[in-house]
Amino acid sequence: MRSAPSTAHRFDTLPEGEKKRQAVRQMFDSIAPRYDVMNKAMTFGLDSYWRRRALSLARLEAGATVLDLACGTGDFARLLASRQMEAIGLDYSGGMLARARRARASLCEGDAARMPFRDGSFDGLVSGFALRNFSDLAGTFAEIARVLRPAGRLALLEVAEPKLPLLRQVHGIWFNSIVPRLGAFSSDPAAYGYLPKSVAYLPPPAAMLEMLEQAGFYATRRHLLTGGVVQVLTARKR
Ligand SMILES: C[S@@+](CC[C@H](N)C(=O)[O-])C[C@H]1O[C@@H](n2cnc3c(N)ncnc32)[C@H](O)[C@@H]1O
Repeated sequence: MRSAPSTAHRFDTLPEGEKKRQAVRQMFDSIAPRYDVMNKAMTFGLDSYWRRRALSLARLEAGATVLDLACGTGDFARLLASRQMEAIGLDYSGGMLARARRARASLCEGDAARMPFRDGSFDGLVSGFALRNFSDLAGTFAEIARVLRPAGRLALLEVAEPKLPLLRQVHGIWFNSIVPRLGAFSSDPAAYGYLPKSVAYLPPPAAMLEMLEQAGFYATRRHLLTGGVVQVLTARKR
């Protein structure tokens, strides 16, 4: 029997545009079965705490209709539902969505840059660890602005690089060396090699806030959690 074709070449150089869209989707389909276990191991379970903090920074209330953008296996959507919000999850990976089914949320397969929702559909929007995976970040911010109602709130959770030298060093060893090895051992080597490299896709913090303003948001802020290991961008739609 022939073994599955290697996917390692996909991220030798970081793809852009349509190539990135396809490579990233294929990658999440491939790692979906092990995603939750790896996520907990990689973050020492802190990911749940970060989502809770991001949600409280968004200051959304019970009863709000909230989109979990790039919902993956649905952790944010589950949290929204547990806070009595109406949760809708959107992702373009069928493999990830299949694992989100246990969430008390309406799930939808689609692309963040072309969402199948009417203008002003949501009171709020949250998204976890997806910004660096989008192939058109400015277009996605414009699309987020379109689907949020005026004064709607958002919280975008994403990895960051800590500033404190010692933490930066320890975090660098963990994120750049140990996590890819752990991932290679228990999941897809190409995918977990991509993870540290994908940080290079993120524009500098001030540029991301500027992009949000250009897309139609105000009160843009960047919050750092756990010594700057992760960041949360919050804003309101004009
Ligand atoms: C790192 S996972 C994060 C999943 C989940 N939000 C979480 O917090 O665990 C990134 C997710 O973004 C999704 N994604 C990336 N680009 C997308 C796009 N253009 N449209 C929809 N989903 C996208 C991937 O399929 C994947 O499920």
